[in-house]
Amino acid sequence: MLYTVYTLFPDLVRPWTQEAILGRAAEAGHLKFNVRNLRDHAQNKWNRVDESPFGGGAGMVIRVDVAARAVAEAKAMAPAPDEIILLSPAGEPFSQTIAEELSEKQHLCMLCGRYEGFDARLEPLVTREISIGDYVLMGGEIAALTVIEATARLIPGVLGDQESHEQDSFSTGLLDYPEYTKPNLFEGQGIPEVLKSGHHGKVAQWRRERALERTFYRRPDLLEKVTLSQTDLDFLARLKTKAET
Ligand SMILES: C[S@@+](CC[C@H](N)C(=O)[O-])C[C@H]1O[C@@H](n2cnc3c(N)ncnc32)[C@H](O)[C@@H]1O
Repeated sequence: MLYTVYTLFPDLVRPWTQEAILGRAAEAGHLKFNVRNLRDHAQNKWNRVDESPFGGGAGMVIRVDVAARAVAEAKAMAPAPDEIILLSPAGEPFSQTIAEELSEKQHLCMLCGRYEGFDARLEPLVTREISIGDYVLMGGEIAALTVIEATARLIPGVLGDQESHEQDSFSTGLLDYPEYTKPNLFEGQGIPEVLKSGHHGKVAQWRRERALERTFYRRPDLLEKVTLSQTDLDFLARLKTKAET
């Protein structure tokens, strides 16, 4: 996967892509990062990318012609971007489902705003707008890195253990079950006996029930979208009765 990121602060983005799993995956050739300075497309002697908004008001707006030149540059790359993504609080809410869809692509190009964001005439030039949540960040860099983190780990070869993302929260439609490791005892809290039993069937059942239980108490909205077996439904019915008594 090739990720092209246009930002006014490339040095905020680059270090993140050079360390840990992303850095190792890039060295191994599974990922490629192309972090570009939007200012390189300013084309004026002050390298200015922003102007005050028509109609007045606080803050500055990033010029559409500057962003359009960046988009044209990205489109001429090989492979051409499958998606040109504008990071924006007004975008579609990012989710594991969108991450799964994007992880199948070959090249994602992302545009990070700053100040009051981009001139609205950029919208027809992008293929989608993504928001990482109902809050306003100072810039799109963390949003772009969120999309990179969530998609890269789904690409074969990026995580050491390919199975490890398949049980994650949201991948199964449920929150993940709780995990434990050494020490055996911490401040009076032990390890559930079943996890030490070596009985794979019982461990799998315990984990499924804990995932259902966590989701039931913390994110009941997720249960409406997930496909559940009769055993799951019976377990949830018992939980519901318990919660009501
Ligand atoms: C200060 S924000 C602009 C906010 C804009 N005036 C608004 O209220 O929608 C600057 C940039 O940060 C990025 N950004 C801020 N919050 C975001 C979010 N929740 N999701 C994705 N990008 C975000 C966008 O790229 C945006 O152009």
